[in-house]
Parts: sequence; C-alpha cells; structure tokens
Amino acid sequence: MTRKAFVIGHPITHSRSPLIHGTWLAEHGIEGSYEAIDVAPDALPAFFERLRSGEFAGGNVTIPHKEAVFALCDCVDDLAKTIGAVNTLVVRESKVHGYNTDYLGFLGNLDDKAPGWSDGSGDAIVIGAGGASRAILVALRQRWKGKVHILNRTLANAEKLVAEIDERFEAHGFEDFAAIAPKTGLVVNTSSIGLHGTRFEWLDLELLPKSALVTDIVYSPLITPLLSDAKAAGLRTVDGLGMLLHQAVPGFADWFGVRPKVTSELRARIEATL
Ligand code: ATR
Repeated sequence: MTRKAFVIGHPITHSRSPLIHGTWLAEHGIEGSYEAIDVAPDALPAFFERLRSGEFAGGNVTIPHKEAVFALCDCVDDLAKTIGAVNTLVVRESKVHGYNTDYLGFLGNLDDKAPGWSDGSGDAIVIGAGGASRAILVALRQRWKGKVHILNRTLANAEKLVAEIDERFEAHGFEDFAAIAPKTGLVVNTSSIGLHGTRFEWLDLELLPKSALVTDIVYSPLITPLLSDAKAAGLRTVDGLGMLLHQAVPGFADWFGVRPKVTSELRARIEATL
C-alpha cells in the first residue's frame, strides 16, 4: 500500500520539507509520497476530517497553523503543549495525534555536529523568549546539566518561560551577559536578531571561554552575524540547518517505518536551495 504524508501551510511554496522527505523516500526505495498542500486557515477543520478518513499516514504542519491545529487534534503530546506548537501529525486508527519535534531537531543537530556538547559543566545562555525559544528550553531541560539562563530584551517574557517551563531556569535582561559569560559553555540564539544581518551590540564574545559552543537556530542565512563573529573569536559554532533536517526524522520514521539518516548529501541538497 502506498503511504502518503504531507506538509500543510498557507502559503506553502517555500517549504523545504518535500525535498527532505522526497530524498529519503527515494533513498530507501519506499513506495510513498510526501506532498505540500496549501490549506487556508478556514479549511483546516475539513482537512482534519479528511485525515480521519485514513488517506494519509500523517504529515507536518507549518506557518500559520502550528497553534491552530491544537484544537483540532484528537490527542496532543505534553511536550508539544509546553512548547505551544504542533509541527508533526500522526494518524492512527482514525485519530490525529499532534507532536512537536523541533526540540528533537535541536538535540539531533548538536549531537551530530558537536558530539559530547552536553557532557561538560558550565551554564547555558538562551537568547530570546519567543515561540522558538520554548522548544530549545524543553531540549535543554532534558539534557543540559548546568544552569540555564534566558536572556531577553523584555524581562517579563523570559520570566514567563521560567514559570511555564522550568522554575530552575533564570530570567535576565541583556545587561547580565557580561557576568554570566565567563562560566558559559553554550550560547543559543533563538531571537529574530540576525535574520536581517543585525547584531546584539552587548554580546561581547571575547568574554566567553574558548571552549564555548555557539549556535543559532536560524538557517537562512546559514552563517548569521552571530556565527561569523563567534568563528572569528575562535569559538566552536553549529548552524541551524541541521535542526531543520533532524526535526524531520521522527515524522518520517512514524509514517514510513524507516528511521532516515541526516547525511552530508542531504544537507548539501537543502543548502543549495537557501
Ligand atoms: P519566534 O516565534 O520566532 O520566537 P517571537 O515570538 O516574536 O518569534 O519572539 C521573538 C523573540 O526575539 C523575542 O524574544 C523578542 O524579544 P521581546 O520578548 O523583547 O519582544 C526577540 N526580539 C525580536 N526583535 C528584537 C530586537 N530588535 N532586539 C532584541 N530582541 C528582539
């Protein structure tokens, strides 16, 4: 039987998911399909009815539906609730289950590109307290042994994440960076700064230990100002493209029964489209 999966969004033309899953389907010789479907917000309930009919094994959800699908799923995973977004759907026995695999994408990317990244001690700094930050904090709650500091322009937004995700995390304004930096092993930028070539003027990378790892979850541009500055300062860096690739793995495994690999060939193929 041909198994079918999809990505829904509105618009959907820019999604790289069909190329990622299409590459894996061909690689494994699976008789299946993965298609991009444009679903307008008011057409979502009807699409979910279509899902319950069993036509698809599941699929991905992208902007603007990641929050709206909560109310339509029959069952939503607790971590997706904490993260506040569903990006992966699995249909089982006419029921639609919602998950979030972004935090797994973040972990998979660092495990792949910086093995042992979570073994050491030291603090972690997460810059930003928006939607994207939540998945990273859930990931660090699972794996980071030291303290986790959330640095944000608006302190109240960082405090909200401490209250909602883990009371052991600490909320700060940007002015606290200099005091925390010398004992920091990991810096993650989740804010939209860098998307348009801008920099944080307070972020003095020279204050970090030379062993610190700096990562950005943005993948377009692949080398953000933060990453190029970190490289110049002699720090280890990991870009965000691997997070996109690794977040796709659990969905593919569920729908098609094979756990695919994130290879350098796949990465190069997606990089060529950026
Ligand atoms: P996303 O879902 O992509 O995380 P978001 O929820 O709008 O987007 O969050 C954007 C994050 O980037 C927030 O942490 C925001 O800081 P505030 O909470 O103070 O708004 C941060 N951000 C956006 N533009 C910024 C800027 N110019 N300077 C500093 N932080 C900025």
